[in-house]
Amino acid sequence: MRLYINIDHVATVRQARRTDEPDPVRAAVLAEIGGADGITVHLREDRRHIQDRDVELLLRTARTPINLEMAVAPEIVDLAVAWLPAQVTLVPERREEVTTEGGLAIPSPVGGSALETAVCRLRDAGIRTSLFIDPEPDTIRAALDLGVEAVELHTGEYALASGAEKERQLARLRRAAALGRSLGLSVHAGHGLTCLNVGPVAEIPEIEELNIGHSIMAHALFVGMERAVREMKDIVRFARRGV
Ligand code: PXP
Repeated sequence: MRLYINIDHVATVRQARRTDEPDPVRAAVLAEIGGADGITVHLREDRRHIQDRDVELLLRTARTPINLEMAVAPEIVDLAVAWLPAQVTLVPERREEVTTEGGLAIPSPVGGSALETAVCRLRDAGIRTSLFIDPEPDTIRAALDLGVEAVELHTGEYALASGAEKERQLARLRRAAALGRSLGLSVHAGHGLTCLNVGPVAEIPEIEELNIGHSIMAHALFVGMERAVREMKDIVRFARRGV
């Protein structure tokens, strides 16, 4: 099981001040030291968090594979084909959304669609391509027909559910993972996963990669807060030569 860390939120904090810290490239180094198997970044069309410069630097400095999340937008596909990340995950993207909402809708027929064009261009460039989709059998089969190597199952509905509905969503993920694997697809999963809910998903044997961002960034703030305050306090004290 590979754990890919989504570091978009580091860029979100930086963009809140349009400054140069915190740098997601430094976050990637620390994530790798912590054991990340890969780094995930979503280059949104509106560049609200990750910037082109971040992806370019990550591709040059990361020691683990970069998974570039992106919309089916010709301008972003152009960049991916020029940059050649190890993996691209195609996601739906709406400007108003807070985060990715739901999986990618695969049009029927898919022939001639923007999605098919994007997948062909990425495949021709030799980039491993994954589609972020809802855990639905028809969507998994449609992904296979498109010729992608992998699907990332959207775990958001599982993450939000409780009680019997959570069990139902988990069973849905299990069935989808088994189907995907039986068709020869690599099966990834992600969205809304936390320390509290990741266990049952990580237990699904067919899932080989997890993408987790928000919960890890939230936890990192808290495990780092005390030290960050202490270091600032030391600097202020030292400036006054106090004790
Ligand atoms: N996978 C995809 C395709 C996503 O869009 C996101 C959110 O950017 C994630 C995984 C990670 O979700 P979360 O931040 O909730 O862990």
